[in-house]
Amino acid sequence: MNVTVFGTGYVGLVQAAVLAEAGHKVICIDIDENKIASLNKGQVPIYEPGLAPLVERNLSSRTLQFTTDAKTGVDHGEIIFIAVGTPPDEDGSADLRHVLTVARTIAEHMGESKIVVNKSTVPVGTADKVREAIKSELDKRGAGDLAFDVVSNPEFLKEGSAVADCMRPDRIIIGTDSKEAEEALRELYAPFNRNHEKIMAMDIKSAELAKYAANCMLATKISFMNEMAEIADRVGADIEQVRQGIGSDPRIGYHFIYAGIGYGGSCFPKDVKALITTAGKLDVTPEILASVEQRNERQKRYLLEKICAHFGDDLSGKTFALWGLAFKPNTDDMREAPSRVLMEQLWQRGARVQAFDPQAMEECQRIYGVRDGLQLCGTKESALAGADALIIATEWQQFKAIDVEAVTSGLKNPVIFDGRNLYDPKQLARSGIDYYCVGRPR
Ligand code: UGA
Repeated sequence: MNVTVFGTGYVGLVQAAVLAEAGHKVICIDIDENKIASLNKGQVPIYEPGLAPLVERNLSSRTLQFTTDAKTGVDHGEIIFIAVGTPPDEDGSADLRHVLTVARTIAEHMGESKIVVNKSTVPVGTADKVREAIKSELDKRGAGDLAFDVVSNPEFLKEGSAVADCMRPDRIIIGTDSKEAEEALRELYAPFNRNHEKIMAMDIKSAELAKYAANCMLATKISFMNEMAEIADRVGADIEQVRQGIGSDPRIGYHFIYAGIGYGGSCFPKDVKALITTAGKLDVTPEILASVEQRNERQKRYLLEKICAHFGDDLSGKTFALWGLAFKPNTDDMREAPSRVLMEQLWQRGARVQAFDPQAMEECQRIYGVRDGLQLCGTKESALAGADALIIATEWQQFKAIDVEAVTSGLKNPVIFDGRNLYDPKQLARSGIDYYCVGRPR
């Protein structure tokens, strides 16, 4: 099928590449000329395992094309995806400016009937707004009788495994009131719907809410476990044992119950905020969501409390090795990353940071530039050199097996503050390392 995708961010780019790989002819549109120029050379602006070869291969077979020319895109696609960003605006609601601009652009160039699909995470009711925006633009140019459908088809991919998630989705939600649109999307997704039925057709509003409900449920599980971890810390219980004890109940499950230093990224923080705002506007008091958010804000400072309890509030003259900058492994994304809160708090208290991350060093440089108090180190070992303690903020695979010798000889005193519970506290105690983690006895 001929498909057009507006937006070459995480969701748009991965979706476009995966659809092209499945045999569809895809054109990707973005207003950012530099980005389109580099994509046309096969340069992928984000680190996402498996994405670059997919883009390269489909570029060369011309199943995937990139352009800034919206008209070419609108002419091409029988199905047109809107996959542009929805950053939070001042009151925390999702800012729909980009989504509605794309809707109007589609209407401006539409010459025949189209299926417009919302891929961006958008609040309930957005499909109606997209429909209105297209309709009024069509009316303006005297093309009001052109037929079109608006579909909500939320994306559930995870950064770091985006390509795999998109290739093998656990569900494909199609929110529409049009039988033809549903059929067209069923055909589009047929290559991903093998073995067992993954497509769920539903009304538009349920599809829109399902996306927020999924992310907010996962965020709730994490915040709940983080609260349990603080209780475990106080009573001397081990959150890892608690995790296994409760995860074995299939009604609870093992996923997303790892305590840590809070969730980050471009989705959970933004979506929890947006649903809180939506609820407020509907006169619903979002009691659970508000607590989830509060707990997460607090959790990002949890290690710092332990650091200050160990060294005192004034950290001037101290140097901290920091392993992990990305909000989670296998990505270079630092949006809302707990590492940022940690670094900024350490700087405020006069400390220096020697940081290492396998992928996010450039991103860190882009965010903070060259500044006093931050040294980006080429290896995890060089980050340790002469530091007063090691802080772990991201559970990258290469941090998981501890090299006791490297840590004890690199640091001034062997102290680790581990925000991801990577090591066995008993083993570290035996190695003479002062080990602080989240919700586990020392
Ligand atoms: C999340 C969802 O998992 C995806 O299903 C969804 O499609 C995506 O948002 C989106 O809306 O676009 P993502 O933000 O890429 O995906 O990352 P996750 O793997 O969900 O991790 C989010 C955060 O939660 C990370 O900071 C991670 O460290 C933290 N986390 C996760 C925990 O602290 N504990 C856990 O047990 C699991």
